[in-house]
Amino acid sequence: MTKVDLMGKLVFLVAWVTLMQGCCTVKSFSYDYSSSIEASIYIPLCYDLLNCLPEPPEAQYGGGIVRNADFSDGLHGWSAFGYGGLAEGASPTGNRYAVATNRTRPYQSVSQKLLLQNDTHYTLSGLVSGGVADVRVVVKTGGDFIHAGGVVAKAGCWSMLKGGLTAVSGGSAELYFESNATADIWVDSVSLKPFSKEEWSTHRAASAGTARRKTVRLQATDSAGNPLQGATVSLETIRNGFPLGAAMSREILTNPAYQTWFTSRFTVTTFENEMKWYSTEPAPGREDYSVPDAMMEFAKQNGIAVRGHNVFWDDPNQQPRWVQGLPYQQLLAAASRRIRSVVARYAGQLIAWDVVNENLHFSFFERRFGWDASTAFYAAARLLDSSSALMFMNEYNTLEQPGDMAALPGRYMQRLKQITSGYPENGAGMAIGLEGHFTAPVNIPYMRAALDTLAQAGIPVWLTEVDVAGGPSQAYYLEEVLREAYAHPAVQGVILWTAWRPQGCYVMCLTDNDFNNLPQGDVVDQLITEWTTAPRAGTTDEQGFFQAELAHGEYKVTVTHPSLNASVSQSVKVELGSGSHHFIHV
Ligand SMILES: *[C@@H]1O[C@H](CO)[C@@H](O)[C@H](O)[C@H]1NC(C)=O
Ligand SMILES: *[C@@H]1O[C@H](CO)[C@@H](O)[C@H](O)[C@H]1NC(C)=O
Ligand SMILES: *[C@@H]1O[C@H](CO)[C@@H](O)[C@H](O)[C@H]1NC(C)=O
Ligand SMILES: *[C@@H]1O[C@H](CO)[C@@H](O)[C@H](O)[C@H]1NC(C)=O
Repeated sequence: MTKVDLMGKLVFLVAWVTLMQGCCTVKSFSYDYSSSIEASIYIPLCYDLLNCLPEPPEAQYGGGIVRNADFSDGLHGWSAFGYGGLAEGASPTGNRYAVATNRTRPYQSVSQKLLLQNDTHYTLSGLVSGGVADVRVVVKTGGDFIHAGGVVAKAGCWSMLKGGLTAVSGGSAELYFESNATADIWVDSVSLKPFSKEEWSTHRAASAGTARRKTVRLQATDSAGNPLQGATVSLETIRNGFPLGAAMSREILTNPAYQTWFTSRFTVTTFENEMKWYSTEPAPGREDYSVPDAMMEFAKQNGIAVRGHNVFWDDPNQQPRWVQGLPYQQLLAAASRRIRSVVARYAGQLIAWDVVNENLHFSFFERRFGWDASTAFYAAARLLDSSSALMFMNEYNTLEQPGDMAALPGRYMQRLKQITSGYPENGAGMAIGLEGHFTAPVNIPYMRAALDTLAQAGIPVWLTEVDVAGGPSQAYYLEEVLREAYAHPAVQGVILWTAWRPQGCYVMCLTDNDFNNLPQGDVVDQLITEWTTAPRAGTTDEQGFFQAELAHGEYKVTVTHPSLNASVSQSVKVELGSGSHHFIHV
């Protein structure tokens, strides 16, 4: 323990410096990505200190349209909501805040009346404390109660919540807090900051530029090392650096049109159902991997990376039928056979495993084996596959539904911390999977805020099953969701949940049955084009330099010069963090 604590403290010093820089650097654009609810999961000491803020930080954006956001003027501008008790609190150092007390109903809390502008995004943040409870923020408009965000509050410290909403009509509104527990709710540093749609997409484009592109200087030199002026440099993308993929169904094995359509677009995939337990072991002990094996082979032949989905699914209704009623000993034997069988079979061939799918919403295995069942499965999966495959939690509604308390970003982080605590190497190789099954209208400011919170874990975040339910704005919201994901610095890949079957897709297809694009297919193709650097060429200057702004990825660089008999080609990788200066000797 002593050794671990010491490590924790050493790493903590480094992390603290980083966090301080994060909070105090003046950003060149004005969306505030910071969120201090949780810190890196690798660092328990840091996590607890930051998760338990003794004093609330100041309101983001000075509170935005919220008046007296930090309660320095007492309760001025605020009122009791739902006939609850409201008092003013003060810390020993003199910080003032609101205390909703004597609560008997979820909605009894503190509120403020606001004026919203139509067609405007609002980013929300606030600090809560008081008792142990799930606290959420509701914005009551003319006819609607909009869930804008939530957090797991603790006693004796402040927890930050981030969220947001999009106003679809102007006018008066009221912001209040709610929680099912009757515990006191303390509130401080509340902020609601409006962004016009134009401002929002400007920040997004700037963030995408920083996260996904880089200005690269290539220098052509001759064999003696002298700069080569007037050389023609041409660049061609070999592989885009941002993994954008789609789920595939077994139909791909037999349908050449599906194959062509898929392989000309996507670099990564998840098998929709074919690797799931109910598919590979339909009857006890009768394992059949012929379909997922063939799909793996197809993916390999076409340079498509595969996510393993899934080892277990915590939903009782998604077990193989024969598993559902097994007594303890037999279930243990069956589960143990399953994890050893599937993980050992594909170990080293996958980039990821969804180890226990949806273990925030469901608890089939926890009910049978105890609260730490998932923890044990993650540790076992890691031991069975020691490759670089990332081990994912995979959950719905964390980005999609601010009202779903089971899947709040804060809940997700708690579960991740629990799993990590029993995992080899203190969590190295864990990753955050967010399904992203959206329905219109999508709460885009909430999506970004949830990503801000999850980004604090400091581990890779993927959107793993993105779709938008049908309706007139399906394509519009799909584009918004994909642009948000691409622009967020924490996101490292996206999979669309669009596996094709002749009888239809899960909720969203990209094409018709002849593989002609539907409007949402056009969106995806347009983004692939936009995010991929088109072939380009230029001439080197007197120092032999050629400069280009490129999307992260792998490029074939070809240099030709009158003094050369033949052109020279070389591959160059452009990625975050690697140098931006490359030499081509010809
Ligand atoms: C809460 O209830 C107690 C006991 O009835 C009462 O004394 C106190 O004034 C109440 N506080 C508020 C803020 O209403
Ligand atoms: C709000 O703005 C949208 C988009 O500009 C517009 O279509 C809608 O009619 C407006 N609604 C109201 C109530 O003004
Ligand atoms: C409180 O519990 C009720 C009943 O379970 C549920 O419908 C409601 O959404 C919950 N509210 C909150 C804030 O969790
Ligand atoms: C170019 O080709 C010619 C004829 O094949 C050869 O003599 C010459 O050495 C070559 N030059 C270089 C730079 O390779």
